Amino acid sequence: MTDRITIRRPDDWHLHLRDGAMLAAVAPHSAGFGRAIIMPNLVPPVVTGAQAAAYRNRILAALPDSAALQPQMTLYLTDATEPADVVAAFRNGIIRAVKLYPAGATTNSASGVTDFDRVQPVLEAMAEAGVTLCVHGEVTDPAVDIFDREAVFIDRVLDPLRRRTPGLRVVMEHVTTSDGVAYARSGGDDLAATITTHHLVINRNAILAGGIRPHYYCLPVAKRESHRLALREAATSGEARFFLGTDSAPHADSAKLQPCGCAGCFTAPNTMSILAQVFEDEGALDRLEAFASLNGAAFYRLPPNDDRITLVRRDRPAAYPARIDAGGETVTVFDPGFPLFWHQED
Ligand code: NCD
Ligand code: ZN
Repeated sequence: MTDRITIRRPDDWHLHLRDGAMLAAVAPHSAGFGRAIIMPNLVPPVVTGAQAAAYRNRILAALPDSAALQPQMTLYLTDATEPADVVAAFRNGIIRAVKLYPAGATTNSASGVTDFDRVQPVLEAMAEAGVTLCVHGEVTDPAVDIFDREAVFIDRVLDPLRRRTPGLRVVMEHVTTSDGVAYARSGGDDLAATITTHHLVINRNAILAGGIRPHYYCLPVAKRESHRLALREAATSGEARFFLGTDSAPHADSAKLQPCGCAGCFTAPNTMSILAQVFEDEGALDRLEAFASLNGAAFYRLPPNDDRITLVRRDRPAAYPARIDAGGETVTVFDPGFPLFWHQED
């Protein structure tokens, strides 16, 4: 049995680092990734190149000197985004991508897109300049069941959007269904999908069976088991179109443990240990590097990281904190429900 693997340093192509005291608390837990796409859903959101550059500096200040992490900034697409601003921020190296949140779809998405016709000129400019669009793929129509919102988004929004914007590079963020996996596979090399750590581990029973467990609630919400299995098959397939975006999304426990608690799983501290276990269980440890370290970089037309990390399977489970402190609050770390025998060596 393999008990040691060395892979190119992984990247996280979907990460929430927040700001202020929360940023200071959570950023060090992602310091071991090479690059991370930083989500712009702050309050207020990151909408200009200047805001993205300032946020990047705050992130760098929150990281330890030894950190490998190079933040890859994004702009939050709104109805008012100017095509020329996006292209300028991209050409100046300030941003790596633009994030589309349908207004109201998830945490801090109130400023998101309400009218897809209004943003069409931005999408066309992005297609022309080669800027990637990262998409939160859920409809917000209250008439659509929450477990169907990803599949309906693909039919109603994503497929029409891609058809009318040829050449636009799109990442379907955090796919959670077999429909999402199938649609990602239907595209050419301008279409890819990130998959989170937690959606490879939990299905909706984790949230709802035997009592409600707010720490497993995230958006898009975990679906039934058949979808989790489709995600595991996709992630471990080695296919270039699937790569890691943890969507590690920290919230204070005081905000999650509420009658109306917020969405997000905080997986940054134990993601690589969990992934190694998942890939081992699927007999696919030899494909972990493709998923975590190679495919995303290739999609973003970047070289893989130069250096490597080693994961070692030990008899004793890796220790990780159940929760961390953040500015007087606690943030609970995602509990995969199984011991983590894979340890990351530095
Ligand atoms: C994210 C957050 O908290 O910012 N929450 C989540 O459940 N994933 C937003 C998002 O990515 O949808
Ligand atoms: Zn997210």
